Amino acid sequence: MATAVYPGSFDPVTFGHLDIIRRASHSFEHIIVGVLHNSAKSPLFSVEERVKMLKEETKTLSNVDIESFSGLSVNFAREHGAAVILRGLRAITDFEYELQMAQTNRVLAYDVDTVFLTTSLEYAYLSSTTVKEVAGFGGDIDKFVPPLVAEAIHQKMQRRKGVINH
Ligand code: PNS
Repeated sequence: MATAVYPGSFDPVTFGHLDIIRRASHSFEHIIVGVLHNSAKSPLFSVEERVKMLKEETKTLSNVDIESFSGLSVNFAREHGAAVILRGLRAITDFEYELQMAQTNRVLAYDVDTVFLTTSLEYAYLSSTTVKEVAGFGGDIDKFVPPLVAEAIHQKMQRRKGVINH
């Protein structure tokens, strides 16, 4: 299979995302990870920071590129000549949202299909939101994200606390 785009928020990237990227990199010639720049949301990390962390964590995968995007995922796919949008499926709770998104995308762009990889069992519970919550309460996040990302989360949280306390 040729090129796939893997869109997401990645705020921040977790071991679950990295597992999907690594496994998909064996099945597709080229993976372009699309980091959504969504002005309606207020992420913990800027889009530049999220891109930088993903670049660092995927630097050994020669057929993986990281880019930011805004707007529709199907347009991002078409701009890169990708006929596939890649998504990870963790549990039944993801299914309804993912199905709705895949079907919407299919109506928007009949030439772009969504391919799902089921998340490896050891990461099936994991989400960026949970990681941020655990870190926010001072919990250990080393099993959820790579060291560089864990450090970045701690720094961000410290800075936020500093701003609140001053
Ligand atoms: O990591 P996330 O937050 O689950 O990723 C969601 C994402 C970025 C894939 C989704 O929100 C998206 O595709 N946004 C771009 C806008 C779009 O294409 N919307 C139509 C599909 S419902």
